[in-house]
Order: sequence, then structure tokens, then C-alpha cells
Amino acid sequence: QPIQLSDYKAPDFLIATTELDFDLAPETTRVTARLTITRNAAYLGANDAPLVLMGERLKLLSVTLDGQPVTDYTLTDETLTLASVPDSFTLETEVEINPLGNKTLEGLYMSSGRYCTQCEAEGFRKITYYLDRPDGLSKYRVRIEAPKAGFPHLLSNGNLLETGDLDGGKHYALWEDPFFKPCYLFALVAGELDVLEDSLTTMSGRKVELKIYVDTGMRDRSLYAMDALKRSMLWDEQVYGREYDLDLFMIVAVRDFNFGAMENKGLNVFNASLLLADPTTATDMDYERIESVIAHEYFHNWSGNRVTCRDWFQLCLKEGLTVFRDQGFSADQRGHAVARIKDVRALRARQFPEDSGPLAHPVRPSSYVKIDNFYTATIYEKGAEIVGMLKTFVGPATYRQALDHYFATNDGTAATLEDFLAAFEAVTGDDFSPWLQWYTQAGTPRLHVTSAYDANSKTLTLSFTQATAPTPGQPEKSALPIPIRFGLLTAEGEKQMFTRDGILAAESLFILRDASAELTLNDVKHAPVLSILRHFSAPVVLTVEEPTSHAFARFKGDSDPFNRWEAAQGLAKAIILSETPDEDLIDGFAQGLEASLLDEDLDHAFKALIMGLPTESDLAQSLSPIDPAFIHRNRKAFKTALSLRLYETVHGLYTSLTPAETFSPDADAAGTRALRNALLDLMLAGHNRGAENATSVNLAFRHFETASNMTDMVGGLVALMHVQDRPYKDALDIFYARFKHEPLVIDKWFALQAGCAHPDTLARVRTLSQHPDFDAKTPNRWRALVQSFANNQSAFHAPDGSGYDFLVDQVLEVDAFNPMTAARLVEPLSRYRVYAEPYRTNMKKALQTITLSPDLSKNVLELATKALAD
Ligand code: ARG
Ligand code: ZN
Repeated sequence: QPIQLSDYKAPDFLIATTELDFDLAPETTRVTARLTITRNAAYLGANDAPLVLMGERLKLLSVTLDGQPVTDYTLTDETLTLASVPDSFTLETEVEINPLGNKTLEGLYMSSGRYCTQCEAEGFRKITYYLDRPDGLSKYRVRIEAPKAGFPHLLSNGNLLETGDLDGGKHYALWEDPFFKPCYLFALVAGELDVLEDSLTTMSGRKVELKIYVDTGMRDRSLYAMDALKRSMLWDEQVYGREYDLDLFMIVAVRDFNFGAMENKGLNVFNASLLLADPTTATDMDYERIESVIAHEYFHNWSGNRVTCRDWFQLCLKEGLTVFRDQGFSADQRGHAVARIKDVRALRARQFPEDSGPLAHPVRPSSYVKIDNFYTATIYEKGAEIVGMLKTFVGPATYRQALDHYFATNDGTAATLEDFLAAFEAVTGDDFSPWLQWYTQAGTPRLHVTSAYDANSKTLTLSFTQATAPTPGQPEKSALPIPIRFGLLTAEGEKQMFTRDGILAAESLFILRDASAELTLNDVKHAPVLSILRHFSAPVVLTVEEPTSHAFARFKGDSDPFNRWEAAQGLAKAIILSETPDEDLIDGFAQGLEASLLDEDLDHAFKALIMGLPTESDLAQSLSPIDPAFIHRNRKAFKTALSLRLYETVHGLYTSLTPAETFSPDADAAGTRALRNALLDLMLAGHNRGAENATSVNLAFRHFETASNMTDMVGGLVALMHVQDRPYKDALDIFYARFKHEPLVIDKWFALQAGCAHPDTLARVRTLSQHPDFDAKTPNRWRALVQSFANNQSAFHAPDGSGYDFLVDQVLEVDAFNPMTAARLVEPLSRYRVYAEPYRTNMKKALQTITLSPDLSKNVLELATKALAD
């Protein structure tokens, strides 16, 4: 039965202190929980509710209340109920669990011989009976006991109080976390680990020990993560005034993990793929993600841990805000324009499709079956966009005041989105209730702009209209406040000033509050080219009524780098999606791209981005019904056309960029590598039609073979995919032979092959699923093959439906032991209604196969059912 936001009720009981004793054994771990429980004062006298604790897959051994054995309780698969309890008491339970047999990777489980936990959202109930809800804050004391051999490190949240030896070759550690926290932030890790140690002095002069725990032998690969951690800690002090609050901060990297990382108080747990890096095994993209996820989890210490969520409907209170904070950090580290473009590209690739399909949901959903299904791009990325709009609206200084106020007034509590908006109201005195609609209304608004210029009076009238299409359960939509940052150019792409309300400006911000509005600008000297939604100031789909020449003007000279990139994207999209290629348009685009590539004022990272054609999934959003084969064919043809037209320039520029002698992961060096690899890829796109065939293939192979870092190796392999035969296959074999003992690199080897747009990819993917290195029980490996394949638009959408069949088999297989991970791959099938035939029918059939199969998890069932609902 779905859980409803409107049913929220404060807990009947509070647990002031939580004492946990773990006696670790792979298949028979004993967990003793001593809880001091009181009836919630809010209900005292008016409530004799039973005590209902949640627990799953626990073997209950004993229950005592104030020291007296209890036998009068009710057990179900999901609860332990004591019908009548006093107003204040101590409850002790003892359970046995099986970490080794736990393949859900939720609760306490084993990964590579180590114990580790994952509790968010509702995994704590797989460890012990508890009030497993985020608004139950408690103080934790944790004792861990395990054999010394194999488990030298025994870690939990907070401060280490005590360690000691025990009989029988065992030892123990006692931890105490001085901060009240919800149980989803509990963590425990035990095992053999290498540790990288460092320290940092905070702004108030406190010294914090920093420790990163990794697989034995991997310490050097955690140096970059440590560096990123220190930069994150300083940034949060400088930019948000947030200081770390414990004397110890630990991170542990594990190989088996259902997602990226987890912000457990004082003891973050990371997927090893988002922590370990060195030049020979990690790409620049890996470095970039490590930096941003380290920051994200660290930032949660305030936005998430000190101020947590009242209920899981408020998930974006911590996630949207924390993503916005980590995006700000990355932008400061790596450049604002480039970072913004990448964030928007990701938003469009993942969130926009979600928001327009059957799984569309508000950033604050109103109901769910499994909350794990709502760790979505909408809650994370759209949630971050909303915070960004609020900042744009109030300005940076007021934003900082509002955030200070938010942290000060909600510290140590479990808050709501209303509390977040109340902070903006408190510091501005304005009414922010219209902004709440962004959280409660699903769907991507469409913003349409027309303009009228009067050359005599030099006035420009802009007309804005917004509309949002219905989404499941929300047939009617309201107008939302949309911040629109804009400027004007001349027809030549030069900056053009204007006056608005008597004030001279080069750029301005307009807030569209209603369904439509007009704005008049004066002193517009030349017929203008509009540059609307600069820096992508709102997560909307923008259409502007204008001639194509205006997009070329922005492509040429928009001083807003985002809109310059956006102009190129729009033009490329128009070319690719037209039935017959418009040679003039292609020529114009090629010239525009050439000019950008030769522009000395643009940095390499930006040039690499502007060369990137819209992805097939991005293009699909502009085509109705979606025909993946058409998109693939046309995109490829356009890339080939560009390759042939720009060969000289591209080749020349490529040759002029010599790789640096020593590797540095910094943004400039990474930007140069990105550009060099993008140039190589474009050169190879035309290889089988151009005279330079053999030359460029040799060049790419040499690029791969002589690469001194993983970025260039992958760059070479990606370029060689255009060849698809001998040199490409040789390169894959060389790659495998060289890295067969490096699981994180072999993940890439699987992913690259599954992502290749070649007709025989499905056959290869099937073969790879039988490869001795393939393991569906390790989510990283499974996703490397299966998710990469599902994202590979042309291979996945085989007209005969065979790609869908493969996905269904995989989802069902994994659902049997890891529902959370399996459910993530229902989404690629969900939007069948917007596809052309035969895709549509085949996708629907695949979804039906899922819903009809026996023993489905709630996770997969919820998504597949929603996808099929009318
Ligand atoms: N809070 C974690 C993060 O964003 C993610 C937890 C994901 N949990 C889940 N059940 N999907 O950093
Ligand atoms: Zn997060």
C-alpha cells in the first residue's frame, strides 16, 4: 500500500539513547539493542498506542523490558509489537542476522570479506528492531566485537572511546556519537583495510583527524580523494560558514555498493569506483566525479545530518540542497561555465525524460511504495535546480543569509521543505509560497518567447508564456515562478545594451510569475538577437520564435558561454532531426564550429563541450514519436559530414596539442585531454569516407597505444569504435590483458563494449554476460554491462525487441537478490508510449513480462506497474 505524505504523524515514541552491541560472525552476527524509550510528550495522556518496531529478516532471540523478559509480543515479517508499555522504559532486544547471506547490500552485509552497512533509507530495520524513520533522533553508543584476525579495524560513527582484547583471539571497540541522529545515518565497518591519514585545522582552530580506509595496497589511490576532502571542508567554511563538528572524519571505500556513496555521520561509505584514482586507472571524468561526490557526502554533514528530513517525502530537502552545494563547489574548482553545461547536460539526459514519462513525480512526491525508487534525478537534480533558482531570485548575499538562518533554526531537528522556504521568508520578509509549487508540481515547464522590435522607437517587447503538460495524477498545472536571465546581441553576435525601467543594462533578470507576461526594453539600438535563459536560469524547455540566423549569432559571439554552447546544440539538433540534410545549414554549422575551435579566448574544456553533439537520448526528446534508428543514422551522418568538412582544422589542432609530460588531474590539463580526445573522435568519424582513412586509424591506434593515462586510453578506444574491426578489437584485447587484475578498469572494459553503437553489440553483450569476470552480484560490474547497454540507444532499441528481452532477463535475475539495484533498470522501458512502432509494442510487452513474473520485489513491481498504468 502506498505511503502518503498527508498521513504523516509524529512518532508515538522517542528513543533518547541507542546502545548497540555487535558480535560479528559472517552468518550468525548477534545484535543487542538497548533503547531508552519514552512516549512522545506531544501525545502524553492522550495516547496509549502500542510500541511498533520495524524489523526485517531478523531472528529474534530475546526481548526484555526494564530487565524483565517479555513474551507477550506480536511478530510479523516486518514488525515487532508490544501492545502495552509504560510511558518510559528500557527495551532490550537480541537478534541474529546473516551478513554473508545478505545480497541486498542493505543493512549489514559482507563485501570482499569485510563487514559494512548501508541504512538509508530503510535498511536499519535489517540490523535490529527499531523505529526506523528519519524523525527519530537518538544518541548512539556502539560496541563491536570480532576476531582480531581478518578484522583489525572496527569502525562506527563518532568518537572512539575504547578498544581492548578479549578471549579467544577477539577484540572490541567502543564508539560514541555525541550528535543526535536518525538511524539511517548509522554505520559500521569491520575488516582488513589500509588507511591514509591526514588532518585539517578548522576555522575555529580545531584539529580534525581525516582517515580514508581502502583495500589493502590501494592507499596511494586515495590521495586524490583526501585532497578533494580537504578542499571540500575549506570550501564549506568559506562559502557557507559550515565547520566540521567531530574530531574524526572517516571514509571507507567498498567494492559492492548499490549506488554512489553514503553520508553516515563521521563515517562516509563510498563505492570504490567513486574514491580510488590514479592516472593509469582513472579517467578525468572519474577524478571529476570523485571530487564532486566527496564534496557531496561531506556537505551532507550539515545539509542532511545536522538538519535532517522529517520524513522521506522531504528527501530533496537534503539531496537537492546538497547537490546544489556540490555543484557550486565543482564550479569553483573547475570553472563555472563548463560545470554548468555539464550539469544541464546531465539534467536533460536523465531528469527531463523522467519528468515527461509515466514515472514523473514532484520533487516532493505525495506517495510512494518503496522510497528507494525515489532516489531519482528529479529529487536530486531538479531539487538542486530549485535551490539554484531561489539563489538567483534573492541574490547571493541574501541566499547566504537564508541558509545561515536555515541551519541555525533547524539544527538538530528533522525538517521540512516549508522550514527551508521559511528561512528565505525570514530574511526577506517576502512570501515564498509560490516557490513551493516547484516542489509539489511534476513536469518540465515549457517557456515560449516571442519578441517585437520597433526600430523607430528603439523598443523591444518580449512576450513570455509558460505551460506544463499534465503528469500522472496531476491533470491541471499552475504557473510557476520562473527566473529568466537574459541579454541582447546584435545580428553579428556583439553584445548590445538596453534600458529596463530606466536602468541601463547588459543583462537582466525577469521573473515570470503568471502564465504569460510582457516586458518592454528601451534604447535597443539595433535589431536584436535574444539571448534568453542565460546560465540556464530555470529548468524549463525553452522555445524562441526567431530565424535560424539568430542562433548562429549566439553561437558566434554570445558572451554567456552557456547560451553559446546552447546555440550550437540547438542548431545541431535541427540539422540532425530534419528529414533531408540541409547542406547550407551544415556548412554554416561547420564554419561556426571551426571558428570556435580556433578562438584563442575559449578554453580547451569549453571547446571540447561545444564539439559534443547532442546525445541520442537528448535528441529523442525533440522527436515525436521517437524513432531511435532514424536518430542514430542522422546523427552519425552529421558527424561524418562535419568530420569531412573540418578534417584539416581538426587534425591540425589535434597535432598542436601535445600531451603533458607529467599527469595532473587539474581542470586545465583535463580540459586539454578532453579536447584532444574529442578532436580524435571527430577525425575518426569520417574515416571510411575520407582519403585520410589509414592515417587517422593509425593515429587513433597510436593514441591508444602510447597513452600514459586512462583518459587517453579510453579516448583512443572510443575513437577506434568508428572502425569497429581489427584495430578496435586488438585494442580491446590489449586493454583487457593489461588490466585484468583491476576490477574498476575491467568495469570500463565491459561498459565500453556495451556502449558501442555497432549492430553486433547485443550479441557481444550476451557473450560478455557469460564472461568469467561478469558477476551480477557486484552492482558495479552488472551496471557496467547492463546499464551501459540500456543507455546505448541504437543497440538497446533493436527493432525486434531483442535488446529489451535481454534487459528483462537481467532485471528479473537481479531482482531475486538485489531489488534496489534491479529496479533502477526498469526506467529504460517505461516511456514506451512516446516511441514509434515496433519499439512501442515491444517495450510494452517487455514491461508486461516483468509485471507477470512471480515473486517480484515491491521495488520493481512499483515502477513497472506505474509505467504500464494509463
Ligand atoms: N544519501 C546518499 C547520497 O545521496 C544516497 C543514498 C541512496 N539510498 C538509496 N536507497 N537509494 O549521497
Ligand atoms: Zn546525497
